Amino acid sequence: MGSQMGVTFEVNGSSKTVEVDTRDSLLDVLRDLLNLTGPKKGCDETVCGACAVLVNGRAICSCTMLAVEAQGSKVVTIEGLSEDNELSQIQKAFWNHDSFQCGFCTSGQIISSKSYLDELNGRIPSEEEIKEALSGNICRCGAYNKIVEAVAEVAADQSLAAKDDLAW
Ligand code: FES
Ligand code: FES
Repeated sequence: MGSQMGVTFEVNGSSKTVEVDTRDSLLDVLRDLLNLTGPKKGCDETVCGACAVLVNGRAICSCTMLAVEAQGSKVVTIEGLSEDNELSQIQKAFWNHDSFQCGFCTSGQIISSKSYLDELNGRIPSEEEIKEALSGNICRCGAYNKIVEAVAEVAADQSLAAKDDLAW
């Protein structure tokens, strides 16, 4: 058994302090202690991307990050992406493009897409670039084409918005 330790971090905008085993993964703490079951446990070894969450704005696999490593970080799960009970732009795009079937991989796909879209800074990526960026997220249902469509649509919208901001 590992030792116990208190960890404090921000989750979806709220500060949380939890007592964890030093060997606990961030994924297990989110799901089992904080009841955030959006991030899924697929492979549990950084292969499938189903457990992706944002840590300080970047998508990471929470199954192989220790909860104690999250001390002082800002963590956002799929539950924290919506604002004022309204789906975020990328969530709406997944919905509108039917970018899922069983949904098991979807929270990870959306979190990785959000992280990638934020990195683009208004640049429009090619289809190949989107596929490459999301290559760490496996979808057993094969919804890849529709996922790429959703991400491409949001990237195009973000690019337009960035140009509008410049025009002002
Ligand atoms: S469960 Fe973490 S990458 Fe698969
Ligand atoms: S929608 Fe089923 S695994 Fe992706």
